[in-house]
Amino acid sequence: MASMVAVTSVWSQEDDPAPVTESEAPFASAAEGEADLEAGKARYQQVCAQCHGERGEGNFQLKAPSIANLPDWYVAGQIGKFQKDWRGSRPEDVPGNLMHAIAMSLDPVAIRDVAGYIRSMTLVPTVVTLKGGNPERGAELFRERCMECHRYNGRGEPAFRSAQLIGLQDWYIVSQLKKFRDGIRGAHENDAEGTKMHRISERMTDGSFHDVASHIAELAEKYAVERPRRR
Ligand code: HEC
Ligand code: HEC
Repeated sequence: MASMVAVTSVWSQEDDPAPVTESEAPFASAAEGEADLEAGKARYQQVCAQCHGERGEGNFQLKAPSIANLPDWYVAGQIGKFQKDWRGSRPEDVPGNLMHAIAMSLDPVAIRDVAGYIRSMTLVPTVVTLKGGNPERGAELFRERCMECHRYNGRGEPAFRSAQLIGLQDWYIVSQLKKFRDGIRGAHENDAEGTKMHRISERMTDGSFHDVASHIAELAEKYAVERPRRR
């Protein structure tokens, strides 16, 4: 059943979101060509697993998100944003600082290979760990304000460079929404995608972030078993 809905791109809104006007390709930080998954796996285990976990399940203590199955274009794009100081370089952003340092150590071939490997990992679905989120209100918010870019199933949309949400922990989703709102992430003038998220979250409260995160856990329950789509 899930695979039937997976193949159609369903927009609930009449008006499609405006196309992204990013000047740089999402793969700008990565080398061209096919990823070497063996090399990517070796790199992942040596460098990334200590924070993101062996299965890419994340680590709450370190505030490292679960990254298993994130699309390769998104991973490469975000590492590029860390490298360009668009993300993770503000002194108050301690988790971002950790990842910023790691990103600076990666060359384009390493980024391509590790992004390919992360994409091949099995998604670890979002579950509710935070108290107080109202999933019904979250569902409404998601339909009104998020679905047009992140799709009905929270899997994201390469054409809009929007992230896959249903593998992220609820605490991480809330933390990133706060960072976007407060101008800690996505505030650089050239960061077209981040700027979109800043505008979306600008007038939202912490409570509504919890609501929407609890709904994303419901989407994960429903759609995490879908096979990942091709880029
Ligand atoms: C020292 C701990 C640490 C290590 C090692 C580390 N990371 Fe991270 N990473 C983090 C933290 C913390 C964040 C969250 C940053 C934030 O809150 O913005 C993060 C975020 C990310 C993101 C952004 C995820 C998203 O959903 O936007 C990607 C991609 C990523 N890391 C990839 C990697 C890769 C690839 C490696 C190995 C080459 C790696 N990380 C190694 C701590 C680490
Ligand atoms: C206009 C399109 C658009 C809308 C609407 C939108 N987003 Fe996003 N979102 C994006 C894009 C693009 C990114 C990637 C940002 C980047 O590159 O840093 C993103 C990133 C995110 C991230 C960070 C994911 C990660 O892995 O770090 C979260 C969380 C998120 N969005 C949640 C939401 C929620 C919740 C809503 C609704 C309240 C929403 N978004 C509405 C386009 C959108």
